[in-house]
Amino acid sequence: MNNQDLINEVRRKNDIVDIISEKIPLEKRGKNYFGVCPFHDDTNPSMSVSREKQIYTCFSCHATGNVFTFLMEYEHKDFNQVLQDLATRVGITIKGLKTKKISTKYDEWYDIYNLANKFYQNNLMSKEGEAARIYLENRHIDKDIIKEFELGYSLSGHDDLTKLLTKKGYSLDLLNKIGLTVNDYDLYHNRLMFPLHDLTGKVIGFSGRIITSGKQNKYLNTKETELFKKGKLLYHYHIAKEKVRVDKSIIIMEGFMDIIRASTINVKNTVATMGTALTSDHIKDIKRLSTNILLCFDGDEAGVKATLAAGELFQKEGVDPKVITLKDNEDPDSYILKYGEAAFRDLIKNAIYYSDFKIEALKNKHNMASSEEKANYIYEVLGELVKINDPIRREIILKELAKNYEIGYNTLEKSFQDLLTKQDLKKPIVIREKTAPRKEKDKYQKASLSIMYYMLNKQEIIDLVEEEHLVFPTEALRALESEIVYFYHTYGFVNEADFYTYLTPKVELVNLLAEIISLDLKKEITKSELFDYFKVIREYNIKLSIKKLEEKIKNTHDPLEQVKYAEEIRKLRIGEK
Ligand code: CTP
Ligand code: MN
Repeated sequence: MNNQDLINEVRRKNDIVDIISEKIPLEKRGKNYFGVCPFHDDTNPSMSVSREKQIYTCFSCHATGNVFTFLMEYEHKDFNQVLQDLATRVGITIKGLKTKKISTKYDEWYDIYNLANKFYQNNLMSKEGEAARIYLENRHIDKDIIKEFELGYSLSGHDDLTKLLTKKGYSLDLLNKIGLTVNDYDLYHNRLMFPLHDLTGKVIGFSGRIITSGKQNKYLNTKETELFKKGKLLYHYHIAKEKVRVDKSIIIMEGFMDIIRASTINVKNTVATMGTALTSDHIKDIKRLSTNILLCFDGDEAGVKATLAAGELFQKEGVDPKVITLKDNEDPDSYILKYGEAAFRDLIKNAIYYSDFKIEALKNKHNMASSEEKANYIYEVLGELVKINDPIRREIILKELAKNYEIGYNTLEKSFQDLLTKQDLKKPIVIREKTAPRKEKDKYQKASLSIMYYMLNKQEIIDLVEEEHLVFPTEALRALESEIVYFYHTYGFVNEADFYTYLTPKVELVNLLAEIISLDLKKEITKSELFDYFKVIREYNIKLSIKKLEEKIKNTHDPLEQVKYAEEIRKLRIGEK
């Protein structure tokens, strides 16, 4: 079996409806299944999944593709990883299969970061790395952990890395651009190096920690580049995404060291921001793995603040995360070192809902000796209750409030209902944000896309297009047409889902295909309708030829030539009618 056949078999054995419904709830409506599209912000079921065609299409953001592209997008994996997963799932072995690598302009960047990563790792094990090794030993970080987190060390010289990389042929301009050097010299010196991976696991930068106390910044991060954005990076995400599936929860921490320490006790469903507040990009990527989210920030004032900020953001996104609080200014790292695995696992087990945490935190803001402040506190708690969707938890909290502050339950309940009504009235009517309208297509583009739509669905139309020697107006359209024809002649038919896989390395063509498949055209087309489309395209070609001839007339001073061109134009015009 050749590669393409094997890939197609993996695809066919993994039904797209089954796979997608493991990630998002799908509901059958007519022939197709519908769910909330995970690729844009939405609450409406705008994604349709077709069992018959084995493809999905979102009417709102126009995401479309087959089972491979869905998982690549959804799980931030590359084609080979997804292929491997799906093959394993259905018991197909694909060891040693070499699929075409999709090359991007960042390949060179990844190569450089990988080289730097190896270099730093080697340094740590070399003679010069001794101080760093002692530092790690003192922090109880052993060899296995060093390997697992690919920890390294940058040397004291000002151009150790620069020399290595320029010798390999990389330009200083590029090294400066991707942040490994500054003004042609190494950025990092004598620092413990943490590689930073993107969501799929590729190294896209570094963070370097000082190993002696000094005035320098504790951590020095690679500058932001096209690949590395601090507000998007989640440390350890590429590992966590596998673990979350098993543990069914995700823990968010503040620092690298916390993640690393947790890993030593086999808690690996963890991610950390880079000391910055959570952004909505982070939240989207976290929610994608699990909505069972635990916040485990440092036990100091800053940690409480961070917990409150993150909790509010998650609540806005409709998630009530849980909170793990660490006493006495501990952070997860120091807590685990001090109290051990069992104690930390207890903390996880006993995590409380953010809404409960917030109610507790509100208490500290008020002087309960004053009746006015007490009342304010109670109103604030009621304000929080509005955000809790679970009626049983609401009632539990109301009852506790009633008991603790000696207020009649009915009084509390009534105030709460009043607040609910008021909030409902205040709630803005949500105007659904439309995705940016696509560029208006001209009639030639429209005709071309429609013809291709039918080529994909009806083989006879491929024959007709070939017989008529139709020439599509743009290069991309012509390229896609020749791919369709090629695929058809190779396989005897065009299966849209397989055709997607086949096209995957050619990004512009995949986008064009997506556009065609998401067209909302009727199922059948008559021959005369089809020929009308053909006519539109011929008209375009004639216009183009006339334009070229007119240019020629302008550019020549030979009257005989001009007459010749004019005559050609006249003939074309007659033909056009
Ligand atoms: N951070 C940073 N720059 C700093 C300090 C912190 O980028 N000058 C980021 C790092 O990503 C760090 C996180 O903020 O991991 C949390 O900071 P902190 O708790 O101080 O670091 P720890 O990871 O706990 O490291 P350590 O225990 O070694 O101090
Ligand atoms: Mn720390």
